[in-house]
Amino acid sequence: MIKKLLIVLGVLVVAIAAGVPGWFYLAHPKTRPAPDMEAQDSPSAVERGRYLAEAMTGCPACHSPIDESRPGDFPVADMLYAGRTFTGAFPGTIVAPNLTPDPETGIGAWTDGETCAPSARVSAATDARSSR
Ligand code: HEC
Repeated sequence: MIKKLLIVLGVLVVAIAAGVPGWFYLAHPKTRPAPDMEAQDSPSAVERGRYLAEAMTGCPACHSPIDESRPGDFPVADMLYAGRTFTGAFPGTIVAPNLTPDPETGIGAWTDGETCAPSARVSAATDARSSR
């Protein structure tokens, strides 16, 4: 009885060990290389980006450390976009990365195309859906 149980357990462990990476490989989102592009950096383009990020989509709420001394999710004023770590509400830790221009800890070393890669991923997924 114990031997049978161990065999079933062994088969399960092997199936999971092979199945999880296999499933991830088959199901991962479709991607394409980052586009070779140059983002506009005129003052009006930068101001529009700030408006979209801060007024429309709320990027700083997740990507900035929060001032714990105040009620509400107010970012620490001089740490905007420096990243935020979420603990407690979820199992494990979720990190919204540093989006500052720092080349080592932020996204300063990314090309303009890499910065836009998430939207490239979305368009790849949309292409895949619309070609079905
Ligand atoms: C609800 C919280 C939340 C909001 C709002 C949010 N993000 Fe994020 N963002 C995250 C988390 C969490 C990650 C890390 C995801 C991961 O590691 O898979 C992330 C990752 C990223 C990354 C890194 C992607 C990569 O491929 O490495 C970029 C760039 C980014 N966010 C930009 C933005 C921008 C720009 C906005 C506003 C338009 C935004 N985020 C709004 C939570 C958020």
